[in-house]
Amino acid sequence: ITLANIGNSGLPVSSEEYRDVSCFGTSGEESTVSITVVGASGDLAKKKIFPALFALFYEDCLPKHFTIFGYARSKMTDDELRNMVSQTLTCRIDKRDSCSEKMDQFLRRCFYHSGQYDSEESFAELDKKLKEHEAGTISNRLFYLSIPPNIFMDVVKSASKSASSQNGWTRVIVEKPFGRDSESSAALTSSLKQYLVEDQIFRIDHYLGKELVENLSVLRFSNLVFEPLWSRQYIRNVQLIFSEDFGTEGRGGYFDNYGIIRDIMQNHLLQILALFAMEPPVSLDAEDIRNEKVKVLRSMKALELENVVIGQYKSHTKDGITYPSYVDDKTVPKNSLTPTFAAAALFIDNARWDGVPFLMKAGKAVDSKRAEIRVQFRHVPGNLYKKSFGMDLDRATNELVIRVQPDEAIYLKINNKIPGLGMRLHCSDLNLHYAARYSKEIPDAYERLLLDAIEGERRLFIRSDELDAAWKLFTPLLKELEEKKITPELYPYGSCGPVAAHYLASKYNVRWG
Ligand code: NDP
Ligand code: BG6
Repeated sequence: ITLANIGNSGLPVSSEEYRDVSCFGTSGEESTVSITVVGASGDLAKKKIFPALFALFYEDCLPKHFTIFGYARSKMTDDELRNMVSQTLTCRIDKRDSCSEKMDQFLRRCFYHSGQYDSEESFAELDKKLKEHEAGTISNRLFYLSIPPNIFMDVVKSASKSASSQNGWTRVIVEKPFGRDSESSAALTSSLKQYLVEDQIFRIDHYLGKELVENLSVLRFSNLVFEPLWSRQYIRNVQLIFSEDFGTEGRGGYFDNYGIIRDIMQNHLLQILALFAMEPPVSLDAEDIRNEKVKVLRSMKALELENVVIGQYKSHTKDGITYPSYVDDKTVPKNSLTPTFAAAALFIDNARWDGVPFLMKAGKAVDSKRAEIRVQFRHVPGNLYKKSFGMDLDRATNELVIRVQPDEAIYLKINNKIPGLGMRLHCSDLNLHYAARYSKEIPDAYERLLLDAIEGERRLFIRSDELDAAWKLFTPLLKELEEKKITPELYPYGSCGPVAAHYLASKYNVRWG
């Protein structure tokens, strides 16, 4: 049985049926939106931001009057920026059409300004250039800080003094990391608030822009069948899993200062957990949703060392290929104790979730690349179908899997009778496989988030009190790991991670999915 077959037409949903209505509100004769990508010479700008902006342009989601400026210290002409950007733009949206004409149109709207990050003069020059391109009576400005965190404040200060909009909105998208712990995060927030009000700050967690993460609330609150089961009464444990089958190569310098707990758990996995576990919000307004997320985070117990396992990948040779260890990276100190893998058991101290373990696992250089939410349900009470029909129902409990990536899917493991005259059971899936069901390609998370920032929709961005609550959960643990110099368990590159992660799960009677 597949849910894909239970639609109105039984056919995959076409692009037309599934058209994004959100794009229709952005055109406007009277205003311009100028998007300045600060750090335009960098990796994230090239890999994600410019391609996402192009995809929005391609789908007619950018306003009629828009301009994109790259800003960084590197010297570049407009054409050099366009040339650099064009290397990473793809025609992924409609592969049948040649989109080179659209690309040219897009690139003609891209410009570059070279300047220092701490210079009001440089931003005043940018301001002049922006004005030359602004049409209509209202100039709205979005700054995307795609730069290392140590220069966030220089840019915010200079840009807010010299390049803020005089008659429209000014918004700033800030990339993680938002500090390293409670203190540094609070200091960053209070510095940002010297120049910006909270409503101008868009703290990005790109996992919130992923299709299946956004769908979590739809799944829970628009289907009668899930919400009544969504509690300690029926759910045995919840697993939040992130893994990558490659190491930190090329980003070792950044990573060694943060580690996997700060890089993935404290933000991406915790955000998913909050959306998963929150109470129904009063409405879909950003503040109502964020209020509920904060409540969940504040109901959680801070992580304890005894509920955490850390690991670091070591070199491994397979099929004649030698994969490097974490510390083989030249930008990583040889004696680094930074974890590249962590597993943790977290608990929410409220009536809905009391006693239910939320197990998180995040690892680099392990055996697969995936991000999943796995919900394991309790046993069926009674003994009608136990043991005697070919399976052990104490183990084969229902499991709901939300596969965030790759190959997006939502499937429910159920026990089913094997067709035939006998009575034997086996475990099968009710499977909503996105590629089979929806013909429209799933947008990249950055597309949704950029569009939301342009439209002033804050639902998928992190509010400062959410951030505080998130750091409060992790800061004591991070301090303890560092003060006690806890040594991570080494695991071979490409393996399933440290053995201790299995012991942690079994302590709570859980098997990792
Ligand atoms: P980069 O290291 O590539 O830096 C971006 C640009 O900032 C560089 O091209 C450089 O431009 C300038 N820069 C770099 N280091 C310094 C420095 N020490 N002082 C002054 N300027 C500097 O960063 P990324 O593009 O990888 O990331 C940008 C932000 O996004 C970071 O906060 C990162 O943590 C975050 N991020 C990145 C991800 C990724 O996949 N890359 C994923 C998620 C978040 P120039 O020299 O021309 O001025
Ligand atoms: C980033 C982390 O936030 O997310 C990276 O800093 C990680 O370490 C990346 O690789 C994963 O994002 P995605 O979208 O590729 O799963």
